[in-house]
Amino acid sequence: MTVRRVNAEERLSTSFALGAYAFEASPRSAARAEEFRGYLPYNKGNRTLVVEEGGTTLAAASAIPMRQNLRGEVLPMAGVAGVASHPLARRQGHVRTLMHQLLDEMRDEGHQLSALYPFRPSFYARFGYVGLPKPRTVTFSPADLGELLGADLPGEVGWERIGEGYRDWRAFTERCLNERHGFAIFPGYRDVGLRDRDEHWLLTARTGGTVTGAVLYRIDDHGGTLAAGDLLAADPLARALMLQFLGRHVDQVERVTVQVPVDEVPELWLTDLAVHVEARVARPGYSAPMARLLSIDALAGLPVGPGRVRVELTGDRWLAGSYLLDGTTGALELVTGAAATVGAPPTATLTAAGLSALAYGVLEPVEVGLRGLGDVSTDAAAELRRLFPRQNPYVFADF
Ligand SMILES: CC(C)(COP(=O)(O)OP(=O)(O)OC[C@H]1O[C@@H](n2cnc3c(N)ncnc32)[C@H](O)[C@@H]1OP(=O)(O)O)[C@@H](O)C(=O)NCCC(=O)NCCS
Repeated sequence: MTVRRVNAEERLSTSFALGAYAFEASPRSAARAEEFRGYLPYNKGNRTLVVEEGGTTLAAASAIPMRQNLRGEVLPMAGVAGVASHPLARRQGHVRTLMHQLLDEMRDEGHQLSALYPFRPSFYARFGYVGLPKPRTVTFSPADLGELLGADLPGEVGWERIGEGYRDWRAFTERCLNERHGFAIFPGYRDVGLRDRDEHWLLTARTGGTVTGAVLYRIDDHGGTLAAGDLLAADPLARALMLQFLGRHVDQVERVTVQVPVDEVPELWLTDLAVHVEARVARPGYSAPMARLLSIDALAGLPVGPGRVRVELTGDRWLAGSYLLDGTTGALELVTGAAATVGAPPTATLTAAGLSALAYGVLEPVEVGLRGLGDVSTDAAAELRRLFPRQNPYVFADF
């Protein structure tokens, strides 16, 4: 049995073949197999590892070199995707072997974070990942946007196919990456698939020529659904401009759906807006993202609150060790060795998932203890709460 990295062309007969069995209708047609070659350019910079025996691929896993915002800092992030094993070789530890090697290699390359969409969260919890919020799907009738139709809003909208407007879209997602906690984007070689497939309309909001909002959408039929992706708006005006445009589809579609982060409150957007807000999480088809710190260095220099606490990280391949996390200057300082015990700061024992939950802002310190992700005393909880106030990460990229 060997583990090796496959090159671009080899993906066709190894990882893509296993992935087709794991994630698609099967047996696949010859025509579908032909389409796979067209995906190669969008995977070229990925790191794909396989387990092989006697010429058969037993398991595969890939990492996409992405970037993600963690509390205001943009860091290299390994997006794990295409994890699958051969139906005759499951439960033999192959994926565990691959995950270890893949994350080792991505970490050595400087990826300080990792994220994925799990088929079952408990499987990846074993690898130190913790759950992040799932964006909400908002459904409403365009008729309920009538209040906006006559409004004279200071700004304009742009409307084109994504194939034409891709540069503006990419630039705006780069802006969101810099401004929004949790926001993650693909490397360019992968993202351009959106432009090349050209399957969406791009709506942008603009003020003084600057893009302040963007959303991709498709319409399935007359009298059907205008299904939009993430409604990215830098401010309320951008959102109002985009909703006003959607309201002009009142005689064309029955309903509009858009995705929004968990802290958006659509029922407050307008008076008389009848709206349904939903997050569906189910195994294995509908997952919320998960993420973890892959290197303790991810925390160094992060903007944090004025807490001071020692953490002992246990049971993890990538984060073991003892550190003083000192936020007194407003930028997190990592202290190791004897200096970490000066002043006898309160100490918490944390798993990788426990520390990741605090860094991403998704659990409060007492919950970390309750969830079995650490042992957190009352004093340590108070310091951790000051260091890492709760936040809602908004991952955005779906892979
Ligand atoms: C899910 C899948 C990738 C697991 O691969 P695998 O090679 O069987 O996994 P491993 O044998 O390396 O399992 C690693 C550990 O997880 C456990 N495990 C495996 N499948 C599990 C499951 N479905 N639920 C819970 N635990 C599971 C194993 O028992 C093992 O535990 P251990 O570390 O205590 O020994 C494989 O079943 C598969 O290809 N499924 C279809 C595609 C899919 O869902 N992919 C995941 C996309 S995110």
